[in-house]
Amino acid sequence: MANNSENKAMIDIQNVSKWYGDFQVLTDCTAAIHKGEVVVVCGPSGSGKSTLIKCVNGLEPFQQGDVIVNGISVGNPKTDLPKLRSHVGMVFQHFELFPHLSITDNLTVAQIKVLGRSKAEAVKKGLAYLDRVGLAEQANKYPAELSGGQQQRVAIARALSMDPIVMLFDEPTSALDPEMVNEVLDVMVSLAKDGMTMMCVTHEMGFARQVANRVIFMDQGRIMENCSKDEFFGTTRGERAQQFLSKILNH
Ligand SMILES: Nc1ncnc2c1ncn2[C@@H]1O[C@H](COP(=O)(O)OP(=O)(O)OP(=O)(O)O)[C@@H](O)[C@H]1O
Ligand SMILES: [Mg+2]
Repeated sequence: MANNSENKAMIDIQNVSKWYGDFQVLTDCTAAIHKGEVVVVCGPSGSGKSTLIKCVNGLEPFQQGDVIVNGISVGNPKTDLPKLRSHVGMVFQHFELFPHLSITDNLTVAQIKVLGRSKAEAVKKGLAYLDRVGLAEQANKYPAELSGGQQQRVAIARALSMDPIVMLFDEPTSALDPEMVNEVLDVMVSLAKDGMTMMCVTHEMGFARQVANRVIFMDQGRIMENCSKDEFFGTTRGERAQQFLSKILNH
């Protein structure tokens, strides 16, 4: 890929605006995420967090601005988006494993079909990541035989098996029963500590405090704050972020 330099942004969101018909969902969003950084995105429901993260790998088109991922323009119609996406791991709220495939097949199908790996190579890599998320013993099961937390860890292992240059997370723990949240967060914390570049939409402020470098706060389609974790949890943030944070922390 074009750009691996440490001081250049891995994800560079440049003045992105997006409309659904007449409704402007994103307004002039600008933010950069550097190699090895963990950025948490939070904000009220409907503020555009999912839309913004989907713009990063071109799952949603935008009408103005651009997103540059590792030197490649997502907005350029000539960009091979499926190829770009094959290097951008994405984990959603709902794990979206293939129900009719075993865990091993879930881990290997895209490696074989998209990256052209041999079955043996794909299985080796997939099982190594399954072990990494603590589920080595579940390789021959089907998704329905696993708990929600386990399925989400498989979804993370599946994304990692593609050797992503960045990982995008959209509320990966919000559909889980409370007792399963930590097992998924633990995997994310360990990824962060290993230096993975991560953009995470989450309201898990414990996670943010533990590993985030920066916090982006969105409101009504705008990036209202983009500051260091210490600033965000300190006293310097704006009024809207303050209100939002006091609401979710007093939950
Ligand atoms: N396909 C769509 N067509 C029209 N409007 C949409 C579409 N998808 C999202 N929206 C609207 O865009 C706004 C932002 O939605 P988005 O899902 O990005 O918010 P969010 O911050 O992720 O919210 P949540 O915390 O509830 O997940 C909302 O007002 C939503 O209703
Ligand atoms: Mg959302």
